[in-house]
Amino acid sequence: MTHLLEIDHLSVDLVTHRRYHKVLQDVSVTVEKAEVVSLVGESGSGKSMTARSVLNLLPAQGKMSGNIAFDGQSLMDSTSKDWQKFRATKAAMIFQDPRASINPVHRIGDFLTEALVHNRDMDRHEALERAATLLEQVGIDDARRRLRQYPHELSGGMLQRVMIASVLLIEPQLILADEPTTALDVTTQADVIAILDDLRAQREMAMLFITHDLELAAAFSDRIAVMYAGYIVEVSTPAQLHTRPLHPYTAALLRSRPMLHERTARLPQISGRPLSAFEAPPGCPFQDRCPYVQAQCGESLPQPQLIGGSIVRCHRASELELVSTAGAEGGQSHE
Ligand SMILES: Nc1ncnc2c1ncn2[C@@H]1O[C@H](COP(=O)(O)OP(=O)(O)OP(=O)(O)O)[C@@H](O)[C@H]1O
Ligand SMILES: [Mg+2]
Repeated sequence: MTHLLEIDHLSVDLVTHRRYHKVLQDVSVTVEKAEVVSLVGESGSGKSMTARSVLNLLPAQGKMSGNIAFDGQSLMDSTSKDWQKFRATKAAMIFQDPRASINPVHRIGDFLTEALVHNRDMDRHEALERAATLLEQVGIDDARRRLRQYPHELSGGMLQRVMIASVLLIEPQLILADEPTTALDVTTQADVIAILDDLRAQREMAMLFITHDLELAAAFSDRIAVMYAGYIVEVSTPAQLHTRPLHPYTAALLRSRPMLHERTARLPQISGRPLSAFEAPPGCPFQDRCPYVQAQCGESLPQPQLIGGSIVRCHRASELELVSTAGAEGGQSHE
């Protein structure tokens, strides 16, 4: 079967202080046509770098190995012109900080229509009409006036909606959304994601959705990939993940999330701090924080295995019975 996006054994090294450091390790994940896959995990786990790799937007001197294929075609030998075309037509990213990625000296209308006029040969008037309609759909009033304004005249929340509209306008087959609502007011975050998801679904676009928020990921995704220290440690459906997490890190993340309808005196925290890939010890990257650690966890890196439709990277996944709710026991182990 041809996947829309197939990331296969992707590893990425970036330069810090003139030395290469590993930031992604052996990452494999697929996204199908019109599917939403979320990437979740703590800060530094590699979520943004995974999405950026797909568009070849790594920091300077970044090195990728492994394979990324779109619609069955490998992207790894693309020229910079091919990548540009790919980003303008097939896959587009919604960045976390709209002010950093929208040119401040261009009017909103020019920003929105540039790709349509240049890459689709669309008439400018028609492109502006489409942009105005889409701005209204993402919740911006008085869209025609907004098109004539400059980015500094819009609030952060409005600019983020403009960014979302700009990506929907080019009708890519794949949207990469990197924490697209963190610039927004908490009360409007869910609304904006719902609008994005609606417009995406109508157009049958797929999405790789990055978030810290497991509840949000569960509400909008078909599958969730959990990242830790540059690895994907579990891939599952939201229902399976919540009822039967297979990786101790997933279970800990689920237990430490605040629940709207439950009062818990204190949420359990995951002891220790999150690691980046280059800090991970040999063997399982989660071993120092894992309550179920055994000798083999320090000896060899667990390979991804398929259990009940989920993919998990843990030596003990098939024998542990983990729980996902705050206040519950830390899990049982059948030894
Ligand atoms: N420009 C850069 N140069 C070198 N290393 C970087 C750069 N940007 C990120 N990194 C490193 O790459 C690793 C993965 O970072 P990434 O930004 O993908 O994490 P993330 O999961 O998106 O985290 P967050 O939730 O904080 O956005 C981290 O160790 C980070 O320090
Ligand atoms: Mg990030």
